[in-house]
Amino acid sequence: MRLLDDQAALPGVVRMRRWVRDALAVRPGETAVDLGCGTGTEAVELARLVGEAGRAIGIDPNPSLLALARDRAGETQAEFIEGSAYALPLPAEVVDVLRCERVYQHLDDPARATAEIARVLRPGGRVAVVDSDWSTAIFHPGEPQVLAALRERMDSGIPNPRSGRRLRGLLAGAGFAIDDIGSEAVVWDPVTVLPMCRDIAESGFADGVVTAEQRDRLIADIEGGIAAGDYHFSVTMFAVIAHKP
Ligand SMILES: C[S@@+](CC[C@H](N)C(=O)[O-])C[C@H]1O[C@@H](n2cnc3c(N)ncnc32)[C@H](O)[C@@H]1O
Repeated sequence: MRLLDDQAALPGVVRMRRWVRDALAVRPGETAVDLGCGTGTEAVELARLVGEAGRAIGIDPNPSLLALARDRAGETQAEFIEGSAYALPLPAEVVDVLRCERVYQHLDDPARATAEIARVLRPGGRVAVVDSDWSTAIFHPGEPQVLAALRERMDSGIPNPRSGRRLRGLLAGAGFAIDDIGSEAVVWDPVTVLPMCRDIAESGFADGVVTAEQRDRLIADIEGGIAAGDYHFSVTMFAVIAHKP
Protein backbone atom coordinates (compact mmCIF):
# COMPACT_ATOMS: atom_id res chain seq x y z
CA MET A 1 0.00 0.00 0.00
CA ARG A 2 2.86 2.33 0.89
CA LEU A 3 4.33 1.77 -2.59
CA LEU A 4 0.97 2.52 -4.26
CA ASP A 5 0.68 5.73 -2.22
CA ASP A 6 4.25 6.76 -3.09
CA GLN A 7 3.58 6.08 -6.77
CA ALA A 8 0.30 8.01 -6.72
CA ALA A 9 2.19 11.04 -5.37
CA LEU A 10 4.78 11.06 -8.19
CA PRO A 11 4.26 14.18 -10.35
CA GLY A 12 4.24 12.06 -13.52
CA VAL A 13 1.43 9.86 -12.20
CA VAL A 14 -0.52 12.93 -11.04
CA ARG A 15 -0.15 14.46 -14.55
CA MET A 16 -1.15 11.24 -16.30
CA ARG A 17 -4.22 10.81 -14.11
CA ARG A 18 -5.29 14.41 -14.77
CA TRP A 19 -4.84 13.91 -18.52
CA VAL A 20 -6.91 10.69 -18.44
CA ARG A 21 -9.65 12.40 -16.42
CA ASP A 22 -9.80 15.24 -18.94
CA ALA A 23 -9.83 12.81 -21.87
CA LEU A 24 -12.66 10.73 -20.39
CA ALA A 25 -14.74 13.82 -19.53
CA VAL A 26 -16.86 12.01 -16.94
CA ARG A 27 -20.26 13.67 -16.54
CA PRO A 28 -22.71 13.93 -13.63
CA GLY A 29 -25.16 11.03 -13.59
CA GLU A 30 -22.86 8.56 -15.36
CA THR A 31 -21.80 5.12 -14.16
CA ALA A 32 -18.01 5.02 -13.92
CA VAL A 33 -15.68 2.17 -13.00
CA ASP A 34 -12.07 2.04 -11.86
CA LEU A 35 -10.94 -1.49 -12.66
CA GLY A 36 -8.08 -2.70 -10.44
CA CYS A 37 -8.76 0.26 -8.17
CA GLY A 38 -6.05 -0.49 -5.57
CA THR A 39 -6.34 1.99 -2.71
CA GLY A 40 -9.43 3.59 -4.29
CA THR A 41 -8.09 7.11 -4.90
CA GLU A 42 -9.36 7.35 -8.48
CA ALA A 43 -12.71 5.70 -7.67
CA VAL A 44 -13.27 8.49 -5.14
CA GLU A 45 -12.34 10.99 -7.84
CA LEU A 46 -14.90 9.34 -10.17
CA ALA A 47 -17.53 9.61 -7.40
CA ARG A 48 -16.88 13.35 -7.23
CA LEU A 49 -17.34 13.65 -11.01
CA VAL A 50 -20.50 11.55 -11.39
CA GLY A 51 -22.15 13.22 -8.39
CA GLU A 52 -25.15 11.96 -6.46
CA ALA A 53 -27.09 11.05 -9.59
CA GLY A 54 -24.32 8.75 -10.78
CA ARG A 55 -22.45 5.64 -9.66
CA ALA A 56 -18.71 5.22 -9.11
CA ILE A 57 -17.46 1.67 -8.63
CA GLY A 58 -13.97 0.46 -7.76
CA ILE A 59 -13.31 -3.19 -8.59
CA ASP A 60 -10.32 -5.17 -7.33
CA PRO A 61 -9.64 -8.82 -6.46
CA ASN A 62 -7.56 -7.95 -3.36
CA PRO A 63 -9.79 -7.85 -0.23
CA SER A 64 -7.25 -5.96 1.90
CA LEU A 65 -6.88 -3.22 -0.72
CA LEU A 66 -10.68 -3.00 -0.95
CA ALA A 67 -10.96 -2.67 2.85
CA LEU A 68 -8.44 0.17 2.78
CA ALA A 69 -10.23 1.81 -0.19
CA ARG A 70 -13.59 1.64 1.64
CA ASP A 71 -12.02 3.08 4.75
CA ARG A 72 -10.40 5.95 2.87
CA ALA A 73 -13.52 6.66 0.80
CA GLY A 74 -15.39 7.41 4.05
CA GLU A 75 -18.68 9.09 3.36
CA THR A 76 -18.18 9.52 -0.38
CA GLN A 77 -20.54 7.47 -2.50
CA ALA A 78 -17.82 5.37 -4.14
CA GLU A 79 -18.72 1.67 -4.04
CA PHE A 80 -16.09 -1.06 -3.90
CA ILE A 81 -16.74 -4.54 -5.22
CA GLU A 82 -14.46 -7.57 -5.13
CA GLY A 83 -13.91 -8.96 -8.60
CA SER A 84 -11.49 -9.76 -11.36
CA ALA A 85 -10.93 -8.16 -14.75
CA TYR A 86 -11.56 -11.62 -16.21
CA ALA A 87 -15.15 -11.79 -14.91
CA LEU A 88 -16.41 -8.32 -14.10
CA PRO A 89 -19.17 -8.42 -11.46
CA LEU A 90 -21.48 -6.27 -13.61
CA PRO A 91 -24.23 -6.94 -16.18
CA ALA A 92 -23.68 -6.16 -19.86
CA GLU A 93 -23.86 -2.58 -21.15
CA VAL A 94 -24.35 -0.69 -17.87
CA VAL A 95 -21.10 1.32 -17.70
CA ASP A 96 -20.55 4.73 -19.32
CA VAL A 97 -16.85 5.14 -18.47
CA LEU A 98 -14.16 2.72 -17.34
CA ARG A 99 -10.55 3.39 -16.41
CA CYS A 100 -7.92 0.77 -15.68
CA GLU A 101 -4.44 1.83 -14.55
CA ARG A 102 -1.32 -0.31 -14.17
CA VAL A 103 -3.34 -3.53 -14.02
CA TYR A 104 -2.72 -5.08 -17.44
CA GLN A 105 0.96 -5.76 -16.62
CA HIS A 106 -0.35 -8.20 -13.99
CA LEU A 107 -2.65 -10.04 -16.41
CA ASP A 108 -1.62 -13.17 -18.29
CA ASP A 109 -4.69 -12.88 -20.54
CA PRO A 110 -5.24 -9.15 -21.20
CA ALA A 111 -7.41 -9.92 -24.26
CA ARG A 112 -9.94 -11.64 -22.00
CA ALA A 113 -10.02 -8.60 -19.70
CA THR A 114 -10.50 -6.30 -22.70
CA ALA A 115 -13.44 -8.41 -23.93
CA GLU A 116 -14.97 -8.05 -20.46
CA ILE A 117 -14.57 -4.27 -20.62
CA ALA A 118 -16.30 -4.30 -24.02
CA ARG A 119 -19.13 -6.38 -22.55
CA VAL A 120 -19.92 -4.05 -19.62
CA LEU A 121 -19.63 -0.75 -21.53
CA ARG A 122 -22.71 0.72 -23.17
CA PRO A 123 -22.44 1.56 -26.88
CA GLY A 124 -20.64 4.93 -26.94
CA GLY A 125 -19.01 4.15 -23.58
CA ARG A 126 -15.45 5.43 -23.06
CA VAL A 127 -12.44 3.57 -21.75
CA ALA A 128 -8.91 4.50 -20.68
CA VAL A 129 -6.36 1.75 -20.22
CA VAL A 130 -3.13 3.00 -18.71
CA ASP A 131 0.02 0.98 -18.22
CA SER A 132 3.79 1.00 -18.05
CA ASP A 133 6.07 -0.65 -20.57
CA TRP A 134 8.98 -1.85 -18.45
CA SER A 135 11.33 -2.01 -21.44
CA THR A 136 11.40 1.81 -21.19
CA ALA A 137 12.84 1.80 -17.67
CA ILE A 138 15.96 3.94 -17.22
CA PHE A 139 18.14 3.54 -14.16
CA HIS A 140 21.22 5.75 -13.76
CA PRO A 141 23.92 5.40 -12.50
CA GLY A 142 25.01 1.75 -12.66
CA GLU A 143 26.92 -0.64 -14.89
CA PRO A 144 24.79 -1.18 -18.03
CA GLN A 145 25.27 -4.98 -18.10
CA VAL A 146 24.28 -5.35 -14.46
CA LEU A 147 21.25 -3.10 -14.90
CA ALA A 148 20.23 -5.01 -18.05
CA ALA A 149 20.48 -8.36 -16.23
CA LEU A 150 18.39 -7.08 -13.32
CA ARG A 151 15.81 -5.53 -15.64
CA GLU A 152 15.41 -8.81 -17.49
CA ARG A 153 14.86 -10.50 -14.16
CA MET A 154 12.29 -7.88 -13.14
CA ASP A 155 10.47 -8.47 -16.44
CA SER A 156 10.14 -12.15 -15.69
CA GLY A 157 8.50 -11.31 -12.33
CA ILE A 158 5.24 -10.08 -13.90
CA PRO A 159 3.17 -11.75 -16.63
CA ASN A 160 2.94 -8.80 -19.02
CA PRO A 161 5.93 -6.43 -18.56
CA ARG A 162 5.64 -4.84 -22.03
CA SER A 163 2.00 -4.07 -21.52
CA GLY A 164 2.23 -0.40 -22.56
CA ARG A 165 2.93 -1.13 -26.24
CA ARG A 166 0.09 -3.65 -26.48
CA LEU A 167 -2.78 -1.49 -25.19
CA ARG A 168 -3.74 -0.03 -28.56
CA GLY A 169 -3.80 -3.43 -30.27
CA LEU A 170 -5.81 -5.03 -27.48
CA LEU A 171 -8.48 -2.33 -27.57
CA ALA A 172 -8.60 -2.24 -31.37
CA GLY A 173 -8.80 -6.05 -31.43
CA ALA A 174 -11.81 -5.96 -29.07
CA GLY A 175 -13.67 -3.64 -31.47
CA PHE A 176 -13.01 -0.30 -29.77
CA ALA A 177 -12.47 2.91 -31.77
CA ILE A 178 -9.17 4.48 -30.67
CA ASP A 179 -9.50 8.19 -29.85
CA ASP A 180 -6.12 9.17 -28.42
CA ILE A 181 -2.88 7.91 -26.94
CA GLY A 182 -0.97 9.76 -24.24
CA SER A 183 2.30 9.02 -22.50
CA GLU A 184 4.32 10.18 -19.56
CA ALA A 185 7.82 9.13 -18.57
CA VAL A 186 7.16 8.80 -14.85
CA VAL A 187 10.27 9.94 -13.01
CA TRP A 188 10.73 8.22 -9.67
CA ASP A 189 12.17 9.96 -6.64
CA PRO A 190 15.23 8.46 -4.90
CA VAL A 191 13.36 7.78 -1.65
CA THR A 192 10.97 5.45 -3.49
CA VAL A 193 13.54 3.96 -5.80
CA LEU A 194 16.42 3.16 -3.44
CA PRO A 195 14.63 0.44 -1.41
CA MET A 196 13.38 -1.04 -4.69
CA CYS A 197 16.93 -1.09 -6.14
CA ARG A 198 18.24 -2.75 -3.00
CA ASP A 199 15.54 -5.44 -3.19
CA ILE A 200 16.12 -6.09 -6.89
CA ALA A 201 19.91 -6.25 -6.47
CA GLU A 202 19.55 -8.56 -3.46
CA SER A 203 17.13 -10.95 -5.13
CA GLY A 204 19.21 -10.82 -8.34
CA PHE A 205 22.19 -11.96 -6.26
CA ALA A 206 20.11 -14.67 -4.53
CA ASP A 207 19.08 -16.01 -7.97
CA GLY A 208 22.65 -15.91 -9.30
CA VAL A 209 21.90 -13.18 -11.87
CA VAL A 210 24.59 -10.87 -10.42
CA THR A 211 27.61 -11.53 -8.23
CA ALA A 212 28.00 -10.13 -4.71
CA GLU A 213 30.56 -7.64 -6.07
CA GLN A 214 28.21 -6.47 -8.83
CA ARG A 215 25.36 -6.11 -6.32
CA ASP A 216 27.49 -4.07 -3.89
CA ARG A 217 28.94 -1.91 -6.66
CA LEU A 218 25.50 -1.17 -8.08
CA ILE A 219 24.10 -0.09 -4.72
CA ALA A 220 27.22 2.00 -4.04
CA ASP A 221 26.90 3.63 -7.51
CA ILE A 222 23.24 4.43 -6.98
CA GLU A 223 23.76 5.75 -3.46
CA GLY A 224 26.70 7.84 -4.69
CA GLY A 225 24.64 9.18 -7.58
CA ILE A 226 21.78 10.12 -5.25
CA ALA A 227 24.21 11.85 -2.84
CA ALA A 228 25.71 13.84 -5.73
CA GLY A 229 22.34 14.64 -7.33
CA ASP A 230 23.39 12.69 -10.45
CA TYR A 231 20.62 10.13 -10.88
CA HIS A 232 17.64 9.28 -13.09
CA PHE A 233 15.00 6.59 -12.60
CA SER A 234 12.00 6.50 -14.89
CA VAL A 235 9.53 4.29 -16.73
CA THR A 236 7.11 5.36 -19.45
CA MET A 237 3.39 4.93 -18.92
CA PHE A 238 1.01 4.92 -21.89
CA ALA A 239 -2.72 5.64 -21.85
CA VAL A 240 -5.05 4.64 -24.66
CA ILE A 241 -8.41 6.37 -24.81
CA ALA A 242 -11.09 4.61 -26.83
CA HIS A 243 -14.83 4.19 -27.14
CA LYS A 244 -17.23 1.36 -27.95
CA PRO A 245 -18.87 2.17 -31.29
C1 LIG B 1 -0.01 -1.59 -9.46
S1 LIG B 1 -1.59 -1.79 -8.70
C2 LIG B 1 -2.46 -0.40 -9.43
C3 LIG B 1 -3.61 0.03 -8.58
C4 LIG B 1 -4.33 1.29 -9.09
N1 LIG B 1 -4.95 1.06 -10.38
C5 LIG B 1 -3.38 2.45 -9.17
O1 LIG B 1 -3.11 2.92 -10.28
O2 LIG B 1 -2.90 2.87 -8.10
C6 LIG B 1 -2.30 -3.18 -9.57
C7 LIG B 1 -3.73 -3.48 -9.15
O3 LIG B 1 -4.25 -4.48 -10.02
C8 LIG B 1 -5.05 -5.33 -9.25
N2 LIG B 1 -5.23 -6.60 -9.99
C9 LIG B 1 -4.37 -7.63 -10.09
N3 LIG B 1 -4.93 -8.62 -10.81
C10 LIG B 1 -6.15 -8.19 -11.19
C11 LIG B 1 -7.24 -8.77 -11.92
N4 LIG B 1 -7.17 -9.99 -12.43
N5 LIG B 1 -8.35 -8.03 -12.10
C12 LIG B 1 -8.45 -6.78 -11.60
N6 LIG B 1 -7.47 -6.19 -10.87
C13 LIG B 1 -6.34 -6.89 -10.68
C14 LIG B 1 -4.29 -5.45 -7.94
O4 LIG B 1 -5.06 -5.99 -6.88
C15 LIG B 1 -3.86 -4.01 -7.72
O5 LIG B 1 -4.83 -3.27 -7.04
